[in-house]
Amino acid sequence: MSDSALSLREFTRQLPKAELHVHIEGTLEPELIFKLAQRNQITLPYPDQASLHAAYQFDNLQSFLDLYYAGAGVLITEQDFFDMTWAYFLRAKADGIIHTEIMFDPQTHTARGVSIETVFAGIAGAARQAKAELGISSYLIMSFLRHLSEAEAFATLDAALPLRERYADLWIAIGLDSSELGNPPEKFQAVYARCRELGFRLVAHAGEEGPASYVRDALQLLKVERIDHGVRSEDDPALMQYLIDHSIPLTVCPLSNIKLKVFDSLDDHNLKNLLDRGLNVCINSDDPAYFGGYLLDNYMQTAQALNLTASHLRILAANSLRSSFLPEQYQQAWLQALDNVPAHD
Ligand code: ADE
Ligand code: ZN
Repeated sequence: MSDSALSLREFTRQLPKAELHVHIEGTLEPELIFKLAQRNQITLPYPDQASLHAAYQFDNLQSFLDLYYAGAGVLITEQDFFDMTWAYFLRAKADGIIHTEIMFDPQTHTARGVSIETVFAGIAGAARQAKAELGISSYLIMSFLRHLSEAEAFATLDAALPLRERYADLWIAIGLDSSELGNPPEKFQAVYARCRELGFRLVAHAGEEGPASYVRDALQLLKVERIDHGVRSEDDPALMQYLIDHSIPLTVCPLSNIKLKVFDSLDDHNLKNLLDRGLNVCINSDDPAYFGGYLLDNYMQTAQALNLTASHLRILAANSLRSSFLPEQYQQAWLQALDNVPAHD
């Protein structure tokens, strides 16, 4: 790496950044998968970390999800969820993340007999420790698996609601993830309406593999405030104008999109085009243990492939702060800190 590339990385690291689209189960590194498997006496279908890692070659979203759900099978105890989440926070700190909104999928775990209390306790324990020891704030986005039924989403909500007060400082939002094609937003209209009545902030994955119409439907039918991915919106000019006019945040995940073949290569990614057209996009890591990079790597590899300038990077970081669910006064304080980062030449 040249000196100037190094200093652009350091400049970007110093920018206060929020990560708004990360699945905590997608931060489970092969090393920790093996450690937890041993701790819980689970036999993995791979002889070692290297062969598991070598299997991380995906044709599409589903081929990734199959491995991702299998990997999450080593998470059994509260300590396991804590260790996974704490490892993410250490990496977040190293990348200059000051706030994160973490998605987690209780259904992946309750289906295996792990209690929802265990899931919440482990993740929330690490999030509270991260605030105290690392100065990173966070919120939790409990996400429904869209390949399951809406009735199952309601059952998950009912199981989680008794925990709401205990985790009121963290659990403020609801998300929708997993297999997009064939599982359109309207399938979850009633449960989203209920979550809205309950006062949760709402996000949903849309327009990753699915069509632009899923983005429109997530906004209109589910009434989400933020779209996870949304890169397929480009296929619909009227939708693009709507996203610009309403400054709807798109949490874009460049390395994920390449690994899952949403775009052929980073050079072909539409992030710069979306940014230059005035969309409110920010960069995120999605499932960094599987896609080859955490947040700063996503920023830097995208910057290199698309010739992003330091001012693009500053705008992307500012968008992440403004699109967060942080109260306005915290957003303003971080935006001020961002302005104070010296310019990169
Ligand atoms: N769950 C974890 N990562 C995901 C992604 N990129 N899309 C949909 N569901 C997911
Ligand atoms: Zn995602």
